[in-house]
Amino acid sequence: MTLLNERCKPFAEYVDQAKACGFYPYFRPIAQSWGPEVQVDDRRLVMVGSNDYLGLAHDPRVVDAAAKALGRWGTGPGGSRFLCGNMTVHEALEERLADFVGKRKALVHTTGFTTNVGVIDCLLGPEDVILVDRENHSSIFEGCRASGARVVPFKHNDAGDARRKLLRALERGIQGCVLLVTEGVFSMSGDAVLLPDFLALGDDCPSLLVYLDDAHGLGVMGPHGRGTAARFACTGRVDYIMGTFSKALASVGGFIATDDEQVLEFVRHHSKPLIFSAALPASAVAAVQASLDVLDREPERVDRLRAITERVRNGYREIGLKVRDSETPIVPIHIGPEMTAYHFAQELFAHGVFALPAVYPAVPRGKAVIRTAFMSTHEDRHIDFVLEVVQKLARKHDVPGRFADSEGAVAETARVSSLVC
Ligand SMILES: Cc1ncc(COP(=O)(O)O)c(C=O)c1O
Repeated sequence: MTLLNERCKPFAEYVDQAKACGFYPYFRPIAQSWGPEVQVDDRRLVMVGSNDYLGLAHDPRVVDAAAKALGRWGTGPGGSRFLCGNMTVHEALEERLADFVGKRKALVHTTGFTTNVGVIDCLLGPEDVILVDRENHSSIFEGCRASGARVVPFKHNDAGDARRKLLRALERGIQGCVLLVTEGVFSMSGDAVLLPDFLALGDDCPSLLVYLDDAHGLGVMGPHGRGTAARFACTGRVDYIMGTFSKALASVGGFIATDDEQVLEFVRHHSKPLIFSAALPASAVAAVQASLDVLDREPERVDRLRAITERVRNGYREIGLKVRDSETPIVPIHIGPEMTAYHFAQELFAHGVFALPAVYPAVPRGKAVIRTAFMSTHEDRHIDFVLEVVQKLARKHDVPGRFADSEGAVAETARVSSLVC
């Protein structure tokens, strides 16, 4: 047995056990998708776990655009953008994205994950300080770790705590720059950032730079789905807007947008994933362009998404589930203990609903949720069905009774504590 095998064996055995007990919910192979419905084995289920919020991944106009691009540029890019994989479609999309989010320039990467890692890593260094929300996405923490900057986490969506941490860091002295990184919409809780409160921190530190990861806000928040900064009418005060194509924009890929063209030029030549990893295939780029076209023409999709989500929130409240006020399409069912969440998810699946449990470290320990997320293409019958099943299971597992209020008591997570200075 190798040392590596020794290290991995207990985990592999744990997964085998979970599979044998029928609780293992991850990596389920989907045989076919119709958007709001999917086929797994020979069963058709209602999908309420997808980030395809506008239901555009199956829109014939988007599919056609991707197919045409395949014909013109082929299936693979043939290299990184730096070398021979840069295509006219990438540059056209960058112009379109910059305009969409209200910034001068944008730069496309192959995934959202590598956008965060590449950008934060190449822009920041050991002399800098990065203030991060404790519940930020793993890609942000990876970027911070790679940069070597001093990472200062603050309580989730708590600008007061961020301010205290900022003042303490200023007192200790900062040689380089201070970057605050937060998200427009948090992927597990569905919380929208209290952006104006965070931007007000600039009063204490005029050189503060703000980086907004709007992976789950683009296409969903603000007028015509232009994102969270537009929602709060403060695009000009956010220095960097990051977005992904893997959610509402029905594709894969990511981008960073800013008014600072020189910073963007630096990133173009220093972001490691941009230089050393293959470019986003043209078909994926074309799908994003076509999604933006549809969104331009049919902004009512955003309204429909909000109406559906509001219906779900009210439905969950009637069942007795604790639901926070929010305007995002992510509505977690707060369960608490991890094992109950696994049971609940398994039974949802057995009843025909595809939704996954989010457990530690995606959420704090003992505060597991079932993440349900909705699409503008869900029909009323889908929502009726999901509410009926959730009600039945919530009663069975006594979920309203079990739910422990987590507001204001967000526990430390390992991924954060390993970075705290
Ligand atoms: C907030 C946030 N940022 C970045 C990413 C990474 O994006 P992608 O999946 O497009 O690589 C995700 C993915 O879920 C995310 O939720």
